[in-house]
Amino acid sequence: MTHSFTWPALAFAALALAGCAAPDAGKSGPMSMMGAGMGGGMMKGRMAVASLTPTQGNNVRGLVMFHEMDGHLMVHARISGLKPNAEHGFHVHETGSCASADGTSAGGHFNPDGKPHGPPTAAHHAGDLPALKADANGVADQKFMLAGPTVTAGPASVVGRAVVVHALPDDYTTQPTGNSGARIACGVIAGH
Ligand code: CU
Ligand code: ZN
Repeated sequence: MTHSFTWPALAFAALALAGCAAPDAGKSGPMSMMGAGMGGGMMKGRMAVASLTPTQGNNVRGLVMFHEMDGHLMVHARISGLKPNAEHGFHVHETGSCASADGTSAGGHFNPDGKPHGPPTAAHHAGDLPALKADANGVADQKFMLAGPTVTAGPASVVGRAVVVHALPDDYTTQPTGNSGARIACGVIAGH
């Protein structure tokens, strides 16, 4: 079973303007029209997108968009196939490879500053993200703002790295992983 997603017009306009392929969920329906109908120049700043696909034995997929704005990194995650009403660990990992069947090719958490793993409110890896919270349908649609990571090229840039969704909640304590279990989806972050 697949879910039909409706993305904000701005997001798809930006993808269309950047010449990106729409995700599978967007191949039919009104979104290509939305993209084609939006004028240019609406999305300022730099963007990057990761299209997440399931690791072996899972059915988790979605999009994570990164938009640099006013010195912060805005993140919009829209992910389906999660365990309903559950939290899932969610990170940027250091290696931009989802080639392995279990997602381990993405390496460890992106940590350019040599910090411990932790929650958003304390010292943490640049790649430590707020937990994904799935609704009763196993869908998470969340936006959050990060201080530190960038899309712009540099030591803290997430471009060329990977987004990973885990099977279990992140305890934000266990080093260096948060003990969030298997990697159930993975996507390489591409700049646009
Ligand atoms: Cu992770
Ligand atoms: Zn971490």
